[in-house]
Amino acid sequence: MDLKSLVDDGLEVSVIGSFSRVGIMLRRRLFGWAMPPDGALIGRTALVTGPTSGLGRVTTDALASLGARVILVGRSEERLAAVRDSLVAAHGADRFPIVVADMGSLASVRTAVSRILQTEPRLDILVDNAGAIYPERREGPDGIEATLAVLVSGPFALISGLLPLLKGSPGARVISVTSGGMYSQKLDLDDLQLIAEPYSGPRAYARAKRAQTALVREWARRLDGTGITINAMHPGWADTPGLAETLPVFYRAMRPLLRTPAEGADTIVWLAADPAAAAVSGALYLDRRPRPFDRVPSTRLGAVDRRRLWDMMVELCGAPDPAPEG
Ligand SMILES: NC(=O)c1ccc[n+]([C@@H]2O[C@H](COP(=O)([O-])OP(=O)(O)OC[C@H]3O[C@@H](n4cnc5c(N)ncnc54)[C@H](OP(=O)(O)O)[C@@H]3O)[C@@H](O)[C@H]2O)c1
Repeated sequence: MDLKSLVDDGLEVSVIGSFSRVGIMLRRRLFGWAMPPDGALIGRTALVTGPTSGLGRVTTDALASLGARVILVGRSEERLAAVRDSLVAAHGADRFPIVVADMGSLASVRTAVSRILQTEPRLDILVDNAGAIYPERREGPDGIEATLAVLVSGPFALISGLLPLLKGSPGARVISVTSGGMYSQKLDLDDLQLIAEPYSGPRAYARAKRAQTALVREWARRLDGTGITINAMHPGWADTPGLAETLPVFYRAMRPLLRTPAEGADTIVWLAADPAAAAVSGALYLDRRPRPFDRVPSTRLGAVDRRRLWDMMVELCGAPDPAPEG
């Protein structure tokens, strides 16, 4: 291993050094990062969930700047239209269709999928970014615990439904935005709906993010040979409306060390557009380098459990298995 990688790995061990703006500043200098080449995404179509705020908003802008057509998927037509209008004003072309979908509702996701399949001839990049933390346990319209619905079953249904388009778009890339918070939790497959223990929003969120990341590994295994890559990334800690609203105490304490939204989204854009990111699938990234899935052995979810989680998702979503084994 080279010296730069050793320094980076040392930084990764210290959570604050790694996840804060210090981490990205040091790594940018250490590795001399370049932006993906100008026009890298001309002729490509991307889809971003949650483009109305925070990381999704800056990701959308960055992909648009690289020339992509960007499908904006969100739950408020009004907020989506405002983003579309500002993108059209900034980029001078109307290549930003809006599609309304509440990621917490399977019916809503399926309607969005049908519309996209009818109107879009290709899909090269899918960014699963929308996310939320709920202070109290609640269930979405399908009877699925809301965090699990928005972060896991909704995205699973979205990727499943759009698989034909992704398969038809050579070199398609799926990027799931997860959270370093997942390192703190083990997934309990016998209590996916969080009924057995008293509910905690941050715990529900961390477990859902762990489930999302485990599914990325399972997707990658099952999509091997299709030309589609799928990776997870976590943004570190970024100054977004979502962080300020959902974790106000942490937000106030850490504010001077938070990354800008663009810094948080840097690896999303890199995974979406950089030629260097084309070959890898099934990895978890922070700051353009693969990172471990676990920081302690007790959170490990083995291959058998990842398969079981996949089967549970297929059942929850009530649709045929999108990528059966064998
Ligand atoms: N900021 C951080 O430090 C940090 C750290 C780790 C992970 N993350 C992850 O990064 C992603 C983006 O977070 P952020 O910090 O940018 O948060 P944010 O500012 O709150 O943005 C969240 C986005 O998700 C959308 N969304 C929420 N619930 C939705 C639903 N049910 N259906 C469709 N869209 C929905 C929101 O749309 P509306 O406009 O409709 O509300 C918004 O566009 C999330 O997955 C989050 O977990 C962020």
